Amino acid sequence: METTKYIWLNGKMVNWEDAKINVITHALHYGSAAFEGIRAYKTDKGPGIFRLEEHIDRLFYSADALAMKLPYTKQELMDATCQVVAQNNVESCYIRPIVFYGYGAMGVSVANAPIDVCIACWPWGAYMPHEMVDVKIVNHRRLSPHAFKADAKIAGHYINSIMASLELKGTHYHEGILLDEQGYIAEGPGENVFFVKNGKLITPKLGNILAGITRRTVITLANDMGIEVEEKQILPNEAYEADEAFYSGTAVEICPIHSIDDHIIGNGKFDGISKTIKEAYNKAITMKNPKHQDWVTLCSDSKASKSESAI
Ligand SMILES: Cc1ncc(COP(=O)(O)O)c(C=O)c1O
Repeated sequence: METTKYIWLNGKMVNWEDAKINVITHALHYGSAAFEGIRAYKTDKGPGIFRLEEHIDRLFYSADALAMKLPYTKQELMDATCQVVAQNNVESCYIRPIVFYGYGAMGVSVANAPIDVCIACWPWGAYMPHEMVDVKIVNHRRLSPHAFKADAKIAGHYINSIMASLELKGTHYHEGILLDEQGYIAEGPGENVFFVKNGKLITPKLGNILAGITRRTVITLANDMGIEVEEKQILPNEAYEADEAFYSGTAVEICPIHSIDDHIIGNGKFDGISKTIKEAYNKAITMKNPKHQDWVTLCSDSKASKSESAI
């Protein structure tokens, strides 16, 4: 992977290679970390972070699900994120804030474990190297909301996504879809999923899925354009018969689906509503949608990004 120069770690900017933790860190053993995936895009006014506030809000929600009281405010973490992007001098990048139970206490209890906070960024191009993807409904099921808050972004949850992706290794499928415990479509290992039927966008309702910020963005953009959106339970057969389908997510952005379980979706081409949504999304992330300029936080506007004091 490509790296950058600095990582923000517990309030200080440190060199990338010095951002180290002990191997007896609690989160390494038990997955007790909450994290975010954010992107910054090149805009006419320098790098702009897409939906920063929503991501930091979700980070606090996930941390709260882990009973973790973060030692920083939301504003401090937003400023630190801007600082990381600005001081690494990148035009666009992927940003990974992570908060975790650290080194100092072992055993499942976190009562005596310290909390560490880290924000890194690095250049990261297209997550899916294909214009359209072939998808399989995998055997692994989405974590049950009865087991834990399914809409918190917790490191330990991702074992499920990792195993779902491993199911496809060596096959012609590019990505998976997980069903929920009742057998309805849930989401991809790192993406939400949308279908188009008779001019309407359909997506799994909240409850068993990560409440994707891109998903929310797509719904707002569709509403703006007068495209009807329905959030509901979707069975695999309904998915096979969709006119179009696509994934949404910060990493994957808008990624059209060519086939599911070898059923070609619609005419098998990337056009129609999926294309309209992707075009609208591309405008929004680069501040070219006048109605939603506030979705982008310009790093140059941040006071923290101008400060050298943390280095
Ligand atoms: C399991 C899962 N679902 C959905 C998403 C999409 O969420 P977002 O649009 O907030 O990136 C992600 C990515 O974070 C994810 O990991």
